[in-house]
Amino acid sequence: MSDPLSPIETAKFAAAKKAVDYVENGMKLGLGTGSTAAWMVRLLGERVREQGLDIVGVPTSTRTAEQARNEGIKIVSLDEAKWLDLTIDGADEFDPDLNLIKGGGGALLQEKIVATASDQMIVITDVSKQVDTLGHFPLPVEVIPFGWQTTKSLVEETLVSMDVMGRKATLRMSGDAPYVTDQGNYIIDLHLERIGNAPQLALALNQIPGVVENGLFIDICSTVIIGYGDGIVTTKDLLSGDETIDQFAYEEEENIFADLG
Ligand code: A5P
Repeated sequence: MSDPLSPIETAKFAAAKKAVDYVENGMKLGLGTGSTAAWMVRLLGERVREQGLDIVGVPTSTRTAEQARNEGIKIVSLDEAKWLDLTIDGADEFDPDLNLIKGGGGALLQEKIVATASDQMIVITDVSKQVDTLGHFPLPVEVIPFGWQTTKSLVEETLVSMDVMGRKATLRMSGDAPYVTDQGNYIIDLHLERIGNAPQLALALNQIPGVVENGLFIDICSTVIIGYGDGIVTTKDLLSGDETIDQFAYEEEENIFADLG
């Protein structure tokens, strides 16, 4: 038996475990990026291998594509799939309306394209990402490298007329060099502390030349699955107002798969 998971990993595992129950044969599925989404890809791979689940996945990053291939999940491009039944992804923050900040892992552009091209987006998360108002987590803005400093200045200028608390903008780094996204772009992180009007900010940022996309996901997600350190998960559906509670144990799953092996 493997080591027990930490509470935070248990929460991520449990949320992912609940989410893969939504996946049905024949589905075209958007595969998110990040540590919580990685649990989902792993558990999905187990269903593909053990139960013969027949799905195709559209990954939101090179990292996720590689993991999905290793798990035996069939991968297609979004252009091949055209439209998806469901996207399951993590988030850096979510508010009571299920508006999100995403992009902590740098994959916000593909994540937003894929989620928007889906009938449904389910966010899987631990409870620490739940906030009343978005903004404490730095908001990632993807910009093209050409003239990025000018773009950053225009972003800062735009923030002056926005309902935000902080206005610091920093270029995301990877060691000594700028962090580069899968699309070859840079990311500017906005330290806003509180975003009073997220839809307005999302629109304003995307009007700035040089900005490719921002990490605010407005009216895209309809369901959130929140994991807790004891394996409890709460599922909230915005459209129906339904709320359900489940519990999943990681060791039990490990034993099941050990038996199968
Ligand atoms: C990736 O770009 C992000 O949007 C992730 O989905 C988000 O950062 C959540 O990641 P974790 O599940 O690792 O917290």
